[in-house]
Amino acid sequence: MQTTIKMLAGVLLMASGLAMAQDLADVALPAPKMEGGKPLLQLLKERKSTREFAPQALSPQQLSDLLWAAHGVNRADGKRTAPSAKDWQEIEIYVLTPEGAWLHDVKANCLKAVAKGDFRKLTGKQDFVALVPLDLVYVADTTKMKKATPEEQTFYAATDTGFVGQNVYLFCASEGLATVVRMPNDKPALAAALKLPETSKITLAQTVGLPKK
Ligand SMILES: Cc1cc2nc3c(=O)[nH]c(=O)nc-3n(C[C@H](O)[C@H](O)[C@H](O)COP(=O)(O)O)c2cc1C
Repeated sequence: MQTTIKMLAGVLLMASGLAMAQDLADVALPAPKMEGGKPLLQLLKERKSTREFAPQALSPQQLSDLLWAAHGVNRADGKRTAPSAKDWQEIEIYVLTPEGAWLHDVKANCLKAVAKGDFRKLTGKQDFVALVPLDLVYVADTTKMKKATPEEQTFYAATDTGFVGQNVYLFCASEGLATVVRMPNDKPALAAALKLPETSKITLAQTVGLPKK
């Protein structure tokens, strides 16, 4: 009897250990700075794609500022730093690091845990994508694109992603960070890793990091 109880306790412990291993915590972000930066015309001179990155991760402040610049709220009525067709605000940003994948919750200014694990290599074919500290994945929530035909959804999702991606490019130029926007090579595998419903469509990925010295 005692042996059975011990075995049961062992199984329960293992099970709870497994559950913990699968857990990934939400991450609160510091308030974004929303000020400073280089003048716009200088940023336009400096904006570029870079495919060589240093191994160091961005600081929590840099990540918060980056995500705010990308598609944060910049007005009291809830509108964003990037325009979106019919103000659908359908573009969501997934944050992929070596530890896991999170969804940027714009209103709560935090990262919502999605899945523990390293999914970076699913964001593109180039070697650096699996080695960099941060890959962003842009996803269109088509349930927000009311009355749009599938063709319109594809067009507007791609267009709206472009504005977010350009915001990231300009922020990186301002902060001396390296970035390149990219087409994920295996969207079905990436969608499965990010646990996306059928109605959420991956548009692009973008790597952001410190430049290689
Ligand atoms: C929709 C789109 C997809 C892209 N896909 C990739 C990609 O998969 N890999 C890559 O290294 N660069 C990719 N790029 C970056 C372009 O190659 C880059 O913008 C172009 O060479 C011009 O360089 P620049 O951004 O420095 O001006 C992509 C750019 C766009 C707009």
